Amino acid sequence: MSQRIGHFDDEAKVCLYYSVVEAAGRDDALQKESYFSAALAAMPADFSGKRVLDIGGGNGAWSELFHERNAKEVVYLDKSPAMYQLAAERKKTNCLQRMLLLQIGIEEYLEKHNKHRFDFIFSSFSLMYFVHIRELLTTIAALLNPGGEMMIITNILTVENPAAQPEQELLQHTVKIELGNESRIVLDNLIQPLSHYLDGLNDGGVAETSTKFFSSNYSRICPEYDNPYKASLNQAVIYGRKTIR
Ligand SMILES: C[S@@+](CC[C@H](N)C(=O)[O-])C[C@H]1O[C@@H](n2cnc3c(N)ncnc32)[C@H](O)[C@@H]1O
Repeated sequence: MSQRIGHFDDEAKVCLYYSVVEAAGRDDALQKESYFSAALAAMPADFSGKRVLDIGGGNGAWSELFHERNAKEVVYLDKSPAMYQLAAERKKTNCLQRMLLLQIGIEEYLEKHNKHRFDFIFSSFSLMYFVHIRELLTTIAALLNPGGEMMIITNILTVENPAAQPEQELLQHTVKIELGNESRIVLDNLIQPLSHYLDGLNDGGVAETSTKFFSSNYSRICPEYDNPYKASLNQAVIYGRKTIR
């Protein structure tokens, strides 16, 4: 369950990512993105009585939203010290008393805290760098209470001619993704078909309830990249519910 690419391990890159997002004006640019409003509409309007896990929570904005929507507890985790710091400032400034902050990678969290249980597990653009996404999601799904829900917002790279690249081999390859408009950052995303996510959830007893695809005006395959896999990029909002165990 190793993280092969993980350029977000690189502090400078994580900070650049946020400066790009913020330069474009997070509220204006990202909230106009269709995945964003779809995710907001699909998740519970009220998290009363629910424990929430925010994986790779970044600056803590989503965690704050869960807190605002009355979550009993929000466990935020991020392995980046810089992101943890931003989330800690947010918690302090906005008095988010039911938000628990952990500066830890999801891999280590799963090893150390596998007895924890949640009613809602959320990941927004933090899982695109894991080679073994299927196994990872199965382990994450084990943390859900029966009836609990999971939302994954992610980049899905679709290859035009899968016959040329067998699915299991695709995840060995990365494609350069560009994020931002005036300021830009280039990231390496693994090619992971949707099926790898869904199989992982299914193995963990989570049935997909909906998946919606969106195109983005904010991220694209890097124009300078020659794209040998003929991949196309979409954002996906995957929603599932734990049905067994
Ligand atoms: C693209 S940012 C998304 C942040 C936030 N979820 C959002 O949507 O605004 C990816 C985040 O995942 C974190 N991250 C990357 N790999 C991680 C890992 N293995 N465990 C925990 N966090 C990780 C990064 O530090 C970064 O804050």
